[in-house]
Amino acid sequence: MPKRIFSGAQPTGNLHIGNYLGALRNWVALQQEYESLYCVVNLHAVTVPQDPKALAAKTLEVARVYLAAGIDPKVSTIFVQSDVPEHAELAWILNCVVRISELERMTQFKDKARKQRENVLAGLLTYPALMAADILLYQTDLVPVGHDQKQHLEITRDIAERFNRDFGETFRVPDAFIPKVGAKIMALDDASKKMSKSDENINGSITLVDDADTIRRKFKRAVTDSGTEIRFDEARPAITNMLSIFHLLTGKEPSEVEAHFEGKGYAQLKSELADVTIEFLRPFQERMRAISDEELGRILSDGRDKAREIARATMREVKERMGIVGA
Ligand code: TYM
Repeated sequence: MPKRIFSGAQPTGNLHIGNYLGALRNWVALQQEYESLYCVVNLHAVTVPQDPKALAAKTLEVARVYLAAGIDPKVSTIFVQSDVPEHAELAWILNCVVRISELERMTQFKDKARKQRENVLAGLLTYPALMAADILLYQTDLVPVGHDQKQHLEITRDIAERFNRDFGETFRVPDAFIPKVGAKIMALDDASKKMSKSDENINGSITLVDDADTIRRKFKRAVTDSGTEIRFDEARPAITNMLSIFHLLTGKEPSEVEAHFEGKGYAQLKSELADVTIEFLRPFQERMRAISDEELGRILSDGRDKAREIARATMREVKERMGIVGA
C-alpha cells in the first residue's frame, strides 16, 4: 500500500503566503511520493460564525488555490469536507473518545475563545475531534501542516491510540510533517505573532490574491528590527521572517540570501521581497482565473467520490468495532 497524506485548509478569509509556504508548498512537493488527499475543510470554518454566502464562495476559491498552487487532480484527490458526510459521523464518535480536559488544553481553542469572549460555540471546543476524524478516516500516514497544527496532530495521535487500545487495531497513527523553514511565517505588522487569516489588520499578511500595489505597500509598512544588518538571527524576528520568505520563494540558500543583501538597507530588502512575491503570485493568480467553474466542479465531484469510498470503508469498520448497528 502506498503511504497516504491528508491535509486541509479552512475557507475562512483569504489564504496567505504563510499558508502557502507552511503547508500548500509541501502538499505539492509530496504528492508524487504519496497517495494524497487535500480537503477544503468547510465544516471547521463554522466553528466560528460565518456569512453563508461568503463561506460558499470561499470554499470554491480555496479549491482553486489548491489547483493554482500545483496540486494535480490527476495525482491527488481534492474535495470539500461537507461532501463526505463520514467526516461529521466519525467526529461524533471521536467526541465520545476524547476527553473534555484534553480539548480544554488546546492553545488554539484558548486563543480563539479568548478573542470571542462570549457565546463561544461548542464546536470550537470539539474542533480537534473533527480534525482527528478528517485524518483518521483515510488511514493517513503523514499530515503536512504548519507549526500551529502540531498540538492538533498530537491529540489526533492520542485519540487514534486510545481507540485502537479500547476497540482493537483500527486506525493508522499519523505523523505530522512540519517543515524546518516556513512552518511559522510571522505577521508583517508584528513579528511576535503568526500571519493569520483571521487577523483584523489586513496589513499583517500578504494574501494569495493581493495585487502588485497592495503587496508593495504591505512590505513597505512591515515592521523591522533595530540594527541594520540583514541576516538570519533569532533575536531579530522581523528581518528573519522577511529573509525566510525570500529564501523560500527564490529557492536561494540562506547563505546566498545573506550575501546578496550584504551592505544593503532594509528598504532594499523590502523592495526586492515585494518584486519576488509579485513575480510568484502573478502566474499563480493567472492559474486561479484559468480554471473554469465546470472544470472545478468536475474535479471536486471526482474527488468526493474517491474520498468517500475510503471514508465509507473506515466507517464500516469503526461501527463494527464499537457495536454500532442498525436495521
Ligand atoms: P488553516 O486553515 O488555519 O491553515 C492551513 C495550513 O496553513 C498553515 N499555516 C501556516 N503555516 C506557516 N505560517 C503561518 N503563519 C501559517 N498559518 C497557517 C497551517 O498550519 C495549516 O497547515 N485545523 C487546520 C485545518 C484542518 C486540517 C485538518 C489540517 C482541518 N482538518 C486535517 C490537516 C489535517 C487549520 O485551521 O488550518
